[in-house]
Amino acid sequence: FTIEIDAAETDKGIYPYYMLKEIEEQPNVIRTLMKQYLDDKNQAKIDDQIIAELKNADRIYIVAAGTSYHASLIGKRMFEKIANRPTQVEIASEFAYDSYIPETNPFFVFLSQSGETADSREVLQMIAAKGFKSLTLTNVPNSTLAREATYALPLLAGPEIAVASTKAYTAQITVLAFLAQAMADNKVSVAHPLAAIAVAMEAILQDKDHYEALAQDYLVDASSAFYIGRANDAELALEAALKLKEISYVHTEGFAAGELKHGTLALIEDNTPVIGLITQPKTAELTRSNLAETQARGAHTLIIAADQVAHPEDQIVLPSVDSANDDSVVVDQLAILLATIPVQLLSYYTSLGRGLDVDRPRNLAKSVTVQ
Ligand code: G6P
Repeated sequence: FTIEIDAAETDKGIYPYYMLKEIEEQPNVIRTLMKQYLDDKNQAKIDDQIIAELKNADRIYIVAAGTSYHASLIGKRMFEKIANRPTQVEIASEFAYDSYIPETNPFFVFLSQSGETADSREVLQMIAAKGFKSLTLTNVPNSTLAREATYALPLLAGPEIAVASTKAYTAQITVLAFLAQAMADNKVSVAHPLAAIAVAMEAILQDKDHYEALAQDYLVDASSAFYIGRANDAELALEAALKLKEISYVHTEGFAAGELKHGTLALIEDNTPVIGLITQPKTAELTRSNLAETQARGAHTLIIAADQVAHPEDQIVLPSVDSANDDSVVVDQLAILLATIPVQLLSYYTSLGRGLDVDRPRNLAKSVTVQ
């Protein structure tokens, strides 16, 4: 596949930093992907051969690094819960040297914004040598991983220039959702929930001052912070923590809320920010009680909650998403997409508040071509 890039797409325009521009582009990235991957009846429109490979595999492996690894974790849940396909996620730099692949017909999905990550390429070469087939989802057509995999599909997020990945994460989860729908023989639809999320994202983006104020209150002066949540919220907690540490240098951990008490709770001190992600109705009250445990030890707790499980005192209540007629499994799986915008904005404003170069954090590269 090829993608045409308009010169304006690589210009910051009115934005002080690329990261803010890229955060704001996310609703339209979802819409672009819907046009590309769904037909006018909202059925997934993906090469039959790719879907057949995925469906016939005795296990799907998703291999990635960094933010793409975090998107893979959400992909695994969607593949399993929406399409009932056993899926395993592997960190590329580990799997290249420490793999166990007992299946006779596994299928490999490589998730990579740049398509150039050396760790992922190492795995691709290893599995190709064993004769296994693969699909690369990447934002860069003609990238190494796109060329070397059996199949490739585009993420269509447009050039992502800030080192901290934002819109590529959203695009990856969206394309993985289309794959899940296609594997489920289009018996469920991700179309309406995604369209509704794109609209709700725009409402959040109208309220950036709120996020700037919260970043000032909770994070700008912090030396360490925690994001906690359960199920998909635990996976988003990992990405949220990565986003905050990479551009603000605040030491942050993302944690499964229930696991905190098994050791890490010892790190909570007076005023330690603990941010609770609550989008999953099934686990909302459990996460709240874990947050209360940290508050009792002095934590400065901040709650990001989906509208239907929010309490009036929560600092961030996500806009309501009309989902009355949608499959509840799909709605739960996609709910974190909306919570992604607040965590990105909190990181952005924390970095800004600390006077750092948001787009070019120290020690990091956009694309890592060494192992
Ligand atoms: C680098 C970037 C991260 C990115 C990771 C994987 O470390 O700084 O933002 O998530 O590589 O990159 P990929 O291009 O494979 O998604």
